[in-house]
Amino acid sequence: MSRFAPVALTVTSALLVLTACGGGVQGTPGGSGLRDPYFPKAGNGGYDVAHYALDLAYDPDDRHLTGTAEITARATQDLSALDLDLRGMEVERVVVEGERARFSRNGQELVVRPHDDLDEGETFRLTVRYSGTPRTLTDPDGSEEGWLPTAEGALALGEPTGSMAWFPGNHHPSDKAAYDIAVTVPEGLQVVSNGELTHRSSRDGRTTFRWHTGEPMASYVAMLAIGDYDIRRSTVATEADNGLPVHTAVAPSQADAGRAVLARLPEIMEWAEDNFGPYPFSSTGAVVAVENAAGYALETQNRPVFPGAPDTELFVHELAHQWFGNSVTPRSWRDMWLNEGFATYAEWLWREDDGGDSAQETFDALYDHGEDEYEDLWSFPPAEPTSAAHISDAPVYQRGAMVLHKIRQTVGDVAFHDIVQGWAADHRHGNADTDDFTAYVEKKAPDKDFGPIWRDWLYGDGKPDRP
Ligand code: TRP
Ligand code: ZN
Repeated sequence: MSRFAPVALTVTSALLVLTACGGGVQGTPGGSGLRDPYFPKAGNGGYDVAHYALDLAYDPDDRHLTGTAEITARATQDLSALDLDLRGMEVERVVVEGERARFSRNGQELVVRPHDDLDEGETFRLTVRYSGTPRTLTDPDGSEEGWLPTAEGALALGEPTGSMAWFPGNHHPSDKAAYDIAVTVPEGLQVVSNGELTHRSSRDGRTTFRWHTGEPMASYVAMLAIGDYDIRRSTVATEADNGLPVHTAVAPSQADAGRAVLARLPEIMEWAEDNFGPYPFSSTGAVVAVENAAGYALETQNRPVFPGAPDTELFVHELAHQWFGNSVTPRSWRDMWLNEGFATYAEWLWREDDGGDSAQETFDALYDHGEDEYEDLWSFPPAEPTSAAHISDAPVYQRGAMVLHKIRQTVGDVAFHDIVQGWAADHRHGNADTDDFTAYVEKKAPDKDFGPIWRDWLYGDGKPDRP
């Protein structure tokens, strides 16, 4: 579901409206973006995706991907045309409700004109056949995402907009959906994705893996890891399931350090449930890829990806994102601090519980000397990054965590714990923004005044006065 109004019609779509004739109610084009404050073209208007069925085949030797994406969606208005987001790749055919549809490309927009208009409220099926060499994209902040080839295979990582490099979709965090992802690769390679592995079979020198994600997933945390991995399956006891599946994949070069940190997963999951409430997904795990596979770790749903073995705090950070980011997902990219502030604060809490510095000590050290380590720490407020290039900067992570610590100082440990768990529970599998968060905190502690925290720490420019 999206709360953003569709943006102005694209030129081609506008022409279509002008030239449309005949009787009956005419639909209009759905809009080419969701007006995200940082990525205005990300996502599309007029429909809401319920399910993606991706059927892919990848040949690492020539880096060729062929794919069929079958999208089940509901129209949220009468539609004469709708856009999908896709960067690169050749589109061979688009079918809507069983009929060939006309389509055109315009930058990252794949504009689809169904043979018949779609009615508001109608659930429809749209299939795209495509192929090509998927691209590695560069973020506004300079990091690489999308399709990242490795020596044996590839890694697909999508934050913030990289997933449009490997499948067409409504690529904005406000439209979460269920997924079934099937990938066929040369026999001998492994394919790891989100959710649970439901099927694996080999034929004629190729192996097909099918992964199922039942809980809503934002496309930026969809993931593929294709390559040479040591795969292990086990279970872990959680509050809801004493046999929650654990699926881990470790690149052979990372075996020792990788397996050592992954062995702590049950302990961290238990700690995280004590702090954040019930784990929101049907399986867990991690992928430890080769060190140079990506320049960063990512909280891909169910199982985060690490370039090389992470230290324990980074592992805690990415697992905490399963609650904060993947289950409670930002409504727009402006709300990024709700992801990173919580995941960073999870590191502080872990450190405190693990015999290291208390969160108060971490806060104090950051307040006093933070700018030595993070030059830009006070350069903008967490709730208002200055541009798309800055959504993963220190004000979003470290100062975001400082906002949470200020709330804890104000309400005390017991109420803070309630707020954190209640926030995760209230917005489980949904989307939320900064206003939802401040309203929630105020509702939970009506006798406290949070005004100065919001004003100085969340929205204020520069370094707040000494607390
Ligand atoms: N979300 C990741 C983390 O903190 C970091 C990251 C990777 C990121 N790619 C990004 C943040 C792109 C913003 C944009 O674990
Ligand atoms: Zn993070």
